[in-house]
Amino acid sequence: MKNDYKIAIFGAGYVGLTTASCLAKFGYNITCVDIDKNRISFLQKGKLPLFEPGLFDLLAKYKKRINFTINDKKAIRENDIIFITVDTPFSAKNGLNLVSVKNVAEKIALNINDYKIIVNKSTVPVGTAELIKGIIKKRYKDKFDVVSNPEFLREGMAVSDFLHPDRIVIGSDSRKASQIVAYLYRKIKAPLVLVDAKSSEMIKYVANAFLATKISFINEIANLCEYVGADIDKVREGIKYDPRISGQFLNPGIGYGGSCFPKDTHALAVTAGDHGYNFHLLRSVIEVNNKQRQRVIKKAENLLGSLKGKNITVLGLSFKGGSDDVRESVAIRIIKDLKKKGAKIKAFDPKAISNAQKILSGIMYTTNTYEALKNSDLLIIVTEWDEFKNLDFKRVKKIMKKPNIIDGRNLLNQSKMIRLGFNYYGIGRK
Ligand code: UDX
Repeated sequence: MKNDYKIAIFGAGYVGLTTASCLAKFGYNITCVDIDKNRISFLQKGKLPLFEPGLFDLLAKYKKRINFTINDKKAIRENDIIFITVDTPFSAKNGLNLVSVKNVAEKIALNINDYKIIVNKSTVPVGTAELIKGIIKKRYKDKFDVVSNPEFLREGMAVSDFLHPDRIVIGSDSRKASQIVAYLYRKIKAPLVLVDAKSSEMIKYVANAFLATKISFINEIANLCEYVGADIDKVREGIKYDPRISGQFLNPGIGYGGSCFPKDTHALAVTAGDHGYNFHLLRSVIEVNNKQRQRVIKKAENLLGSLKGKNITVLGLSFKGGSDDVRESVAIRIIKDLKKKGAKIKAFDPKAISNAQKILSGIMYTTNTYEALKNSDLLIIVTEWDEFKNLDFKRVKKIMKKPNIIDGRNLLNQSKMIRLGFNYYGIGRK
């Protein structure tokens, strides 16, 4: 096994940049390629076009080993291993849009000059490794290998998830290629799962679909708690010590969002349908998730009657706390629903305002939480930012017009809020 594999990474987003900086940390020289000239020139100047804790420092520390370029031809010809980390956006019809992956495969097909290993990290439907192989084989008759190596990175935790993963999954029909890819990760202590390409592609979807199922399950239990008069916090406490269940990923709320779960659950359901299988459970998981946010609107109406002309403060815009990402953010959907009902919205988020402004207008964005709360009829918390937990709620009560709180993330201490005189409603809380 040689020590000096040269690596190209196609796609300079969350996954690509995390992979680039972590592999540079392990000593590899990396060529990071993107079609977006602005993004590349930004990165060349030492700037990071996205917010991801720890990533900026890592890129800065290993900048001598990472070269940013738009020259795909050179990157393919001069490197041994080519990672694909491009976006695979949502497509209602096909489940997923594979255009970017196919474009990289076409570029490889046109420029490959030697044995290469193509490693796909983008989340793709089962059979995509074969598809990539087919595209390259049409033009190149010599030996090359395609490997599936899914990422399991959470936004906000990407660097630490890369360096300390629960497992590393590598899927290929070539043992040699799998071993070379495994070798790149030799400094990481984690179980290595070596499988065929299709199983590897499936593993990524199964992991995300199962996690999404946990969320929809606990959301339905929380809803049921409201009907029967039980308390979700206590119910969770009572099930979490069973290691077969565990308490992780069982926080009820407004439903899951982000660039992965909504897209991946949809894509897996479409894949199932394409193969003649009706995945009932997964379809229900998606339906429950889509409906969950409506419960927040209903609660607002129960509190205020008609929402027309009411001043509503929404705290949070990103799809989860610790992130500036507003893709498929349930917070944004809730605001749109409230707007449709005629509410006047003031919103604040510690990191996501500028991203939200690109996709959502007609609301007032404020520079801090208290400004958003002035004269408000109702506060709705939709993103689990720690700083919302630590507000001065005595002050909050004074500046709001009416002391109403809907806590869409069960972030606040319920007894404390009631003690302070708020009309407090969480999700599934008694
Ligand atoms: C997820 C997976 O965790 C990661 O392994 C995969 O590679 C990409 O997708 P991410 O999208 O960054 O990562 O977010 P995650 O932290 O998993 O949260 C997803 C959504 O579920 C968020 O909207 C979050 O608020 C919601 N969520 C999560 C809940 O509503 N309840 C929970 O208990 C956990």
